Amino acid sequence: MSARDRLRIAIQKSGRLSDASQDLLARCGLTFRRSRDKLFCFGESLPVDLLLVRDDDVPGMIADGVCDLGIVGRNVLAEQALGAGPEPAFRELRALGFGQCRLSLAVPQESTWEGPAGIASQRIATTYPNLLADWLRRHEVEAKIVTLSGSVEIAPRLGTADVICDLVSSGATLAANQLREVATVLESEAVLAGGAALPNDERAGLAQMLMRRIDGVIQVRVSKLVMLHAPRAALDAITRLLPQGQPPTIMPIEGSVDDIALQAVCTDAITWQHLEDMKRAGARQMLVLPVEQMLA
Ligand code: PRP
Ligand code: ZN
Repeated sequence: MSARDRLRIAIQKSGRLSDASQDLLARCGLTFRRSRDKLFCFGESLPVDLLLVRDDDVPGMIADGVCDLGIVGRNVLAEQALGAGPEPAFRELRALGFGQCRLSLAVPQESTWEGPAGIASQRIATTYPNLLADWLRRHEVEAKIVTLSGSVEIAPRLGTADVICDLVSSGATLAANQLREVATVLESEAVLAGGAALPNDERAGLAQMLMRRIDGVIQVRVSKLVMLHAPRAALDAITRLLPQGQPPTIMPIEGSVDDIALQAVCTDAITWQHLEDMKRAGARQMLVLPVEQMLA
């Protein structure tokens, strides 16, 4: 692999991950000179260039050294890793917290499901033959894998398969085709992928900086600043009810002996349930604010 001083990152050109991928990179401070319908976007703010490609091409481009990093579904990465022998030249570096979906088995609405053993010797249509074969092996079931390049959901109606193994996100595609989800093969989301080893030139520092910024963006996305007033006596109970985060800051309230003000950054999602539980424990005037930037 030749030395380069600019990092290249590949993302999906158009599809379910493309908008969120571009948004993530923008939040990391990357800007690109965007030429419409071009595959290559030159990085302006940093020496990091963007390649817009088909998601299925990302692992191979990393393996070939055409790009250094990629944003791709775990489903694509895992499928190709199984097909790449004992030591794939690419790996998952970070889960990115968007593009959640799952690779699932589904059967026609009217058929019964009696567990994995029930589909022995049936035909299963999929575009993920490696992941499916791996699942069948783990469940000690022998079935016939029908590998298709797309439109898997209509295979049962066409009579070419009895079961399908396909991505499910909202479930709308399954519902529209009178199919019922019966087992999960893989939980997936968008991931940052990279080579088996990081490049050992200028690009290493860039890749590390980008990963640090990605970690920061992901943290900020769920992090919230919680502010509230409470009786001093309820402090312990309320602190225990806060989702994970830094220890809270406690402040006196001018003119009040019994009450205190509490402020805490929560790095886990805070829900209505949390707020209601804290209210019951004595909290008042609760405020939950988004966090704009964070640097530990
Ligand atoms: C997947 C999958 C289904 C659909 C499921 O295709 O093959 O058709 O999404 O989503 P739903 O549960 O929200 O209806 P995708 O659009 O990812 O295309 P690709 O697999 O060809 O990249
Ligand atoms: Zn695709």
